[in-house]
Amino acid sequence: MSIPTPTAADRFSFGLWTVNWVGQDQFGSATRTPFDPVDVVYKLAELGAWGITFHDDDLIPFGSSAAERDAIVARFAKALAATGIVCEMVTTNTFSHPVFKDGAFTSNDRRVRRYGLRKVLRNVDLAAELGATTFVMWGGREGAEYDTSKDYKAALDRYREGLDTVAGYIKAQGYGLRIGLEPKPNEPRGDILLPTVGHALAFISTLDNGDIVGLNPEVGHEQMACLNYTAGIAQALWQGKLFHIDLNGQKSIKYDQDLVFGHGDLMSAFATVDLLENGFPGGGPRYDGPRHFDYKPSRTESAEGVWESAKANMKMYLLLKERALAFRADPEVQAALQASKLSELAQPTLAPGESLEAFLADRGAFEDLDVDAVAQEGFDFVRLNQIATEHLLGAR
Ligand code: GCO
Ligand code: MN
Ligand code: MN
Repeated sequence: MSIPTPTAADRFSFGLWTVNWVGQDQFGSATRTPFDPVDVVYKLAELGAWGITFHDDDLIPFGSSAAERDAIVARFAKALAATGIVCEMVTTNTFSHPVFKDGAFTSNDRRVRRYGLRKVLRNVDLAAELGATTFVMWGGREGAEYDTSKDYKAALDRYREGLDTVAGYIKAQGYGLRIGLEPKPNEPRGDILLPTVGHALAFISTLDNGDIVGLNPEVGHEQMACLNYTAGIAQALWQGKLFHIDLNGQKSIKYDQDLVFGHGDLMSAFATVDLLENGFPGGGPRYDGPRHFDYKPSRTESAEGVWESAKANMKMYLLLKERALAFRADPEVQAALQASKLSELAQPTLAPGESLEAFLADRGAFEDLDVDAVAQEGFDFVRLNQIATEHLLGAR
């Protein structure tokens, strides 16, 4: 089997902070030095990527003067124009500087909240200037270690106030941006607000400007909470809220590993790509945004290894895409899907125009149904999943 080569048409994008992660962790210092952001743009183009994303501070060192900032942005924009690499998403660092130790939008200190909001609004302007379409907000420091230290009601009020302010600003400026909230259960805070896709979806429904607020779910973050990523993005898609995705790998419930996509739970990655590329079996809303990787090249890798790991993300995605397409095209799979009654699930439970009265009067639905006989029938899900696994392994 040959390894497919990525092209711009695949719309792969990478966070500047991913390949520029220097390997500093809780226990050890950096093992690499970061690349010049302009070199990253050129290298990504060479590897067949389509887009790049960044936090304000990844590109413009915190505390830069206005003149320094303008020069850095101009140089970066020139590299984008020269390579055709698209800056599709921008996000704000409201977690590294010590001032954000208790969060930005939900810090107990009002001065920090006002400062954080200004930092975000300023970055919205930059995102619009560079033509980004998504503005991600990951509230890594919005949370607590101790329940006694946070008034959760007030924190959610302030989170909502902050988001409505940012979304309202985007609308007032007429920017073509949508906000993607990124849930995460913990790390760096002991507990983070909006810990899962479900919490975030429910929260969005309370916003005044929620129409331009959706999600940027990350594989590993859902898996850290022992949740099913594919099912999570499926619900976001169903609710019209899957604005962006962060693809990576995670092995079970532990610290945020940010491995290469597919290097964690491979079956789950297959299901994710199947959904992204083939859509729901019975049709419905499709994700048409970038395939964005948010991973960390392991601390053990050299500078050259960083690029190998970047390539690995794209290769994994394309290999899984190939397998997912073959899976759906296989006539045996179509038969197995029939046997598993997947299409029957797309049929409404009540007949078209069936009144509640008629339903209640349908003896076949209840009184006369041979429940025990129905219960004896199998769904053949194991066979279907075995065929899927054989496709994943390239055995079919
Ligand atoms: C993490 C997160 C972050 C965010 C990024 C966007 O690993 O906890 O993925 O990398 O995605 O900071 O703001
Ligand atoms: Mn992560
Ligand atoms: Mn992420």
